Amino acid sequence: MLDLDALKARYRSVVGAEPEGLWSAPGRVNLIGEHTDYNDGFVLPFALEKKAVIAGGQRDDDALVIVSLELDEEVRIPLADLKPGTEGWHSYLAGVAWALREAGHAVGGANLVMTSDVPLGAGLSSSAAIECATVATLADLYGLDIAPIDRAKLARVAENAYVGAPTGLLDQAASTLCEVDNGLFLDCRTLETEHVPLPMADQGYEMLVLDTKTPHSHVDGEYGTRRATCEAAAEILGIPALRDVTDLDEALARLEDETMVKRVRHVVTENERVLMAFELARTSDLSELAPLLDASHASMRDDYEITVPTVDLAVETAKKEGALGARMTGGGFGGCIIALAKAGDADRIGQSIAAAFKDAGFGAPEWFTATPAAGAGRLAGP
Ligand code: GLA
Repeated sequence: MLDLDALKARYRSVVGAEPEGLWSAPGRVNLIGEHTDYNDGFVLPFALEKKAVIAGGQRDDDALVIVSLELDEEVRIPLADLKPGTEGWHSYLAGVAWALREAGHAVGGANLVMTSDVPLGAGLSSSAAIECATVATLADLYGLDIAPIDRAKLARVAENAYVGAPTGLLDQAASTLCEVDNGLFLDCRTLETEHVPLPMADQGYEMLVLDTKTPHSHVDGEYGTRRATCEAAAEILGIPALRDVTDLDEALARLEDETMVKRVRHVVTENERVLMAFELARTSDLSELAPLLDASHASMRDDYEITVPTVDLAVETAKKEGALGARMTGGGFGGCIIALAKAGDADRIGQSIAAAFKDAGFGAPEWFTATPAAGAGRLAGP
């Protein structure tokens, strides 16, 4: 649970004054559309109640002072010293100040005292939550007029160029643009968006989010390797991105490398699944999405090869215990699964997965049920 009184108290003890305001940005789950974003494809995430919150205020010495309520550390960085590639947790905030300044925005010094209840390394976009909360904070503190989609893009610049993780726009777009009770359909090429109601409770469903506690990271090699293979395939096929494959069989026949064939098949079929899910969510009962969730998981497991034994066991057990559909969510190699379940079933399914993990000698998972929450913004009052 977030303790905003403790956050404000820490701000006061670091700065000696009240914060000028509190700004927040959420983590997300991706309902469907994995590893499609950097292929100019489609995604359909929704925001979580879990979020990063920053107590912020201007400084007049052209420096950032960055503090996390969870850590006993205070980092002071002169704006002139901001430099891509700097390591450490504070780079998710510092990187945003750098990205804004690189883009020509007049950002001066700031006190940024943060807290977050988005689990770290669980594939729920804890880093995007911090980045997007920082954009919201600095934009308001310095009166910057930046459109929401551009805020997401700037947060992504921080992640790609400053932190050094070669990710797409999914996480930052979700954290910035999502609305309560809705999923966000995003075309990652045109950047067109549409909010899609996800009335899970009204239709008698709930969404289990279960953290396998197998940590993952995007700064390491596997994510970048997948991305490079997709780009190489697009080049062989003579198209700008895998989004542009129109005839999958014909495209696959032109590729020799077996691994490349599998990666392309995942991306192209996953894009089709997102489009179908988008259509179904608008027109049908949400249970219609369940087979797409299952197919997405199988594709990530067999073709994109980004699942791990804990994740596969969690999905299998969820299905066995009555989940309508289930899949890994996020970048992969660990992290969380989501399972669409009948209302009242999610906790029991979580318990069963915990028991299966115990039998298999895996550590204990953690879980919660998620309802689509709001994107980044200023919280009421300081
Ligand atoms: C991570 C990245 C996103 C996206 C997903 C996979 O969350 O940050 O850009 O590529 O993995 O869908």
